Parts: sequence; structure tokens; C-alpha cells
Amino acid sequence: MSPKPDELRQEVAKRRTFAIISHPDAGKTTLTEKLLLYGGAIHIAGSVKARKAARHATSDWMEIEKQRGISVTSSVMQFQYAGKQVNILDTPGHQDFSEDTYRTLTAADSAVMLIDVAKGVEAQTIKLFQVCSKRGIPIFTFINKLDREGQNPFELLEEIERVLGIRSVPMNWPIGMGRELCGVYDRMKNQVELFQGKDHSAIEVRKTDDYHDPIIREMAGDHLADQLAQDLELLDVAGDPFDYDKVRKGELTPVFFGSAVNNFGVQTFLENFLQLAPEPAPRKSTDGLVAPDDEKFSGYIFKIQANMNPAHRDRIAFLRICSGKFQRGMSVRHVRAHKDIKLSQPQQFLAQDRDIVETAYPGDIIGLFDPGIFRIGDSLSEGSEIIFDELPTFSPEIFSKVTVKNALKQKQYLKGLDQLTEEGMVQVFRTVGPFEDTILGVVGQLQFEVFEYRMRNEYGVEIQLFRTPFQFARWIVADKVDASKFRINSTLVKDKNGNDVALFENEYAMRTAMERMPDVKFLEMAP
Ligand code: G4P
Repeated sequence: MSPKPDELRQEVAKRRTFAIISHPDAGKTTLTEKLLLYGGAIHIAGSVKARKAARHATSDWMEIEKQRGISVTSSVMQFQYAGKQVNILDTPGHQDFSEDTYRTLTAADSAVMLIDVAKGVEAQTIKLFQVCSKRGIPIFTFINKLDREGQNPFELLEEIERVLGIRSVPMNWPIGMGRELCGVYDRMKNQVELFQGKDHSAIEVRKTDDYHDPIIREMAGDHLADQLAQDLELLDVAGDPFDYDKVRKGELTPVFFGSAVNNFGVQTFLENFLQLAPEPAPRKSTDGLVAPDDEKFSGYIFKIQANMNPAHRDRIAFLRICSGKFQRGMSVRHVRAHKDIKLSQPQQFLAQDRDIVETAYPGDIIGLFDPGIFRIGDSLSEGSEIIFDELPTFSPEIFSKVTVKNALKQKQYLKGLDQLTEEGMVQVFRTVGPFEDTILGVVGQLQFEVFEYRMRNEYGVEIQLFRTPFQFARWIVADKVDASKFRINSTLVKDKNGNDVALFENEYAMRTAMERMPDVKFLEMAP
């Protein structure tokens, strides 16, 4: 049965689906936990952290996760707050992140960029930011650890603009920092929030006329009140004004200061964020834009997770709903397979707990039991064969030659290689020439480890990986490709669809090749 248009509209309007992007240790786990506490999704502080630690002992996730003590895959957390249905897409925070992390970002409608006040914009944040920025989604910034001595707030804003190329608008401003931290001034509401200890209930909020209000002097002392007035005067004159349209287009990031571990500024952030963050947006497809309140159900698979339970060898395909209402047991078109399938055991996630879901709406993520019929990027839809155009391949940065140890296992090896590349685990390239080598490309070293592990455990094949010096891949579009031009610090290979790809050892080699071949197009992603 089709949903009533009003019901669908209301449900879409409630949804906020976002990802937190940050460098490891910036405080993502801590912030996520505080948000879940506000949403009542968890009741005890420390449970998300405890899950992170207890995962070794209790979870049935991949063995490699236990060995490394990290989250290989991203999960989804859901909670309700102030009438909104919030979905947080978790992205692995470890340095060894993978293409999965990038793909997960395509399922988000906005992103929260978490920055450590002392460390500023770090490497992993830059990469994740760029993926979000390319999609033009709104990005909100939370500058964390204000209870520690950090960089000057103006320097941080300047760094965000210089390194990431996005303008910023501070929504609040710190009153002191580190040991001197006293509170923040909310520029939108003209009020001060004073921080009075570890317990968030001890935050005192006082309405002020503006930042010259004597209340501030009374509460924070002369030195901090003067500093605040001086900073905010400067911001009023030289800073960007708040412009909702620019925020929506991802051209301006609203910035919030706070301290996640002390629960300071988190609630204000959450409330502002939920008001400003967009509801699920229309998605591009072969049929044009698909609006979320289109009655017909549709969605696409952005991630496949194998071996959530090794005993059952099951796989879970994560589907982002793009339009219509999902109902358990419904039949939908598996577009690539040209087949109708029944969605009978869908799951929804809270951290690592899984519940069977009866209904879900655009913006929600559901986990589908996958007996091996899904691939990353597959579209499912009710009534038509639309294909969503959401998942680019990301340019790998680490490349290893792969060989099989036991030649008798060649058949299983090829099967494993084929299936795991279909799944998006790694990208495969083949060298051209009399001796064909297979080269695997990834964005994170961890993908190699998981690949090796799965080859051994699922296909019974021991492989060897030899790291190559290449660091960049560019897809080549030209009338004729001259392989002899790719001999120094580079090589020419073919991707799994037969496209020509040049691998380069460094940026210099890549730039030189581009200059020497002005008629050739070098693309960062497969055409
Ligand atoms: P991540 O998921 O981004 O990797 O970071 P996580 O939340 O695990 O936080 C990394 C460290 O930073 C943790 O300390 C955490 O307590 C601390 N942290 C988070 N927010 C704040 C903050 O606002 N102020 C301060 N001072 N520290 C913060 P840890 O020592 O690694 O772990 P733990 O001893 O707290 O468990």
C-alpha cells in the first residue's frame, strides 16, 4: 500500500542523516556518545566507549576487528530528539580508514566536522571534508576540547579557510580557554552559557542584550569580558555574516565551540544543528532527480559488510532509502538483476545492536540480509528501473602487486578476486605487456589486511602482497595511448573494465606527464 502523501512528507521533514568527520582522537566517539545520551538512545555515559572496548570480547564482527581493536566498518546509530529522527552514520576513526568510509559519506545529507582545538585541521579530516565538499552538502564544524589550551580561535578559522577552502561563521565564541575557560557567548541568541563544572546540569545560561552586557563582566571578570568584546567586534566587522543559503550549498560552515567530554556546548550544538541541517534531499538517478516524497520506494546500497556473524557467513547490505516508504516484506525491483525481490528481514542499527525494522523512510539506513545478490551501488526501487548515480569510485593511493602462493589454488583465487572487487573491497588493475601482473589499489592499508584475511578464510587462498611505489592513479581519456610515455616513475595499467589508467610514483611525475601530453585527459575517477 502506498503511504499517504502527508505522512510521507512529515516523516521526511523529521529526518536528519549525517556523518561525523574527523581525525582519530579528535573526540568523535565522545561526541557521538553525548548525542546519543541526549537522544535517550543510551542511558549510561561510557556505553559507546565501553562498546568500543568490549568489542573484542563480545561482538561477532570480523576477527580482524578483534585483533586490531578497531572498527573496520561503519555503523549507523539512530535516535529521536526534539521531534527529529536522527541518523548518525559512523565512519571509522582509525588511521586505516577505507573506501567504505568515503562511500558512507554519500549516504549522508550533511556532515559534522570535528576539530581538536589544539591540533586544528588534520590529515584525515581534509580527505573526508573533500569528499563531502564535492557533493556540496552542508558542513557544520564543532571545535572540541575547549577545556584544553588550544590555538587562537581566529587562527583556527583562518586555517579552516586556508586548508579546506570554506568560509566559516562562528555561531558561538569562547570566553577563555583551557584552565581559563569560563563559557561561550551564543552570537545568534545573544546569551552567555557559563560552564560551571563537569556536570552539564551546572551550565548556567544568561540572556544578555549584547556582548557588552555588564552581566558578562560580572560573571567572567574584566579580562575575559574585554577579550570577548574585542573579538566579537572584530568578527562583526570582518567576519562572514550568517547566510543560510550558503550553508545549504556547503559554501559556509557554521562553527560551534565546546568540549564533548565535559558535555559543554553539546546540547546547544545539537539543537542548532537539527534546526539548520537539511532534511533528505532529492537524489540523482537515470530518471532525473528523485524526490524523497515520491510515493514509490527507492534506495541504493552504499556498503556491504561481510561476516557480521562468521557462524552464518552472512553479509549485510546497507541501503540508504531515497524515496517512498519502506515496509517489511515488500517486493522491490533489483534493478541490475532485473528481478523482483522480497525484503523480509531488514535490520536497523543502534551502535552494534540490530533490530528488525517494520517501516522506514527516506534518510533512514536499513541493513538487508544479503545471500550474495547485492553489489555496492545497486539500486532497489518500486515500480521502475531507476539507477542512482551516487557512488563514484575513489582514486586509490596505495598499490600492491598480488600473487597466489599455491598455483593450484588459481581458480579459487580468481573467484575470490572477482567477488571481492565486485563488493568494492579493493580495486583491481592489470599491467599491460607480455607478463601480466595484477595490482590492487586501495585508499587505506586496512583494506589490504581485510582482503588478505577474507581470501584466506572465505576462499582458502593464501596470497602475497608486494607494495609498489605508486601513489596516484589517473584514468586516461585519449584517442591513442602511448605506453612508452609512462615508463619513468609511472606505469600504464587497465582497470577491470578495460579502461587505461596511469599509475604515478609521485606528484611531480604526474604533473610532468600532464604537461607533456596536453591532449590527454587525466581523470581522478573512472569515466
Ligand atoms: P575518536 O573517537 O575521535 O578517536 O576520539 P575519542 O572520543 O575516543 O576521544 C579521544 C580522546 O580525547 C579521549 O581521551 C577522550 O576522552 C578525549 N576527549 C574527547 N573530548 C574531549 C574534550 O572535550 N576535552 C578533553 N580534554 N578531552 C576530550 P583518552 O585519554 O584517549 O581516552 P579516555 O581515557 O577518555 O577513555
